[in-house]
Amino acid sequence: MKIRKLERQELPDIWSIDRAERIDRVYRLDQGELVLEPHPFDVKSWPPGEAEHYGPILLDCFDRGGTFYAAFEGEVLVGVAVLESRFIGRENDQLQLKFLHVSRRNRQTGLGCALFEKAVARARELGARRLYVSSTPSENTVGFYLRRGCRVTDDVDAALYELEPEDIHFELEIPAVVE
Ligand SMILES: CC(C)(COP(=O)(O)OP(=O)(O)OC[C@H]1O[C@@H](n2cnc3c(N)ncnc32)[C@H](O)[C@@H]1OP(=O)(O)O)[C@@H](O)C(=O)NCCC(=O)NCCS
Repeated sequence: MKIRKLERQELPDIWSIDRAERIDRVYRLDQGELVLEPHPFDVKSWPPGEAEHYGPILLDCFDRGGTFYAAFEGEVLVGVAVLESRFIGRENDQLQLKFLHVSRRNRQTGLGCALFEKAVARARELGARRLYVSSTPSENTVGFYLRRGCRVTDDVDAALYELEPEDIHFELEIPAVVE
């Protein structure tokens, strides 16, 4: 497995990632507490129109300096993490993890963690003190972020919340590297 930065012309390949996932339960926030509820949903692939809608948003992110890491199995793109370049937060010290997806059959092999760590390291390098994550509310994904140290944020970004009100909005404190 090789992780490298994605080139601009490779961005459409992101949609070759296999988004399929069987979701049984999702989290919602109830007065600041995470509550797990049954919500069976068989995700077959990307939602219709996702590439057309989200592709230009990712291109804009790339053009303003976003960082795109991609994992390749041979020539096949099997995972992507995207870090925004625009600072947000009440202290203007956060960068958003804008996208993190691993192809279905490559999950649970350490790839998501590796891509997440690359994004955190890049955020630190850019001077961010916190990472902002608008997480899909599925049990697996929320659990993944919680185990990486993410916590429900009280500094919710209004624009990101409006885009994904069902998401769990997390922040991760980025520890400074001790030399
Ligand atoms: C969330 C997601 C990105 C995680 O990616 P992943 O590649 O499955 O993550 P990893 O394999 O690195 O880590 C998952 C678990 O597997 C473990 N693991 C790592 N290497 C492993 C291995 N070789 N064998 C078995 N398990 C392993 C990790 O330690 C981790 O466990 P933990 O969370 O209990 O600590 C992935 O499930 C996904 O794409 N989901 C669907 C899309 C989605 O919701 N994306 C997020 C949008 S906000």
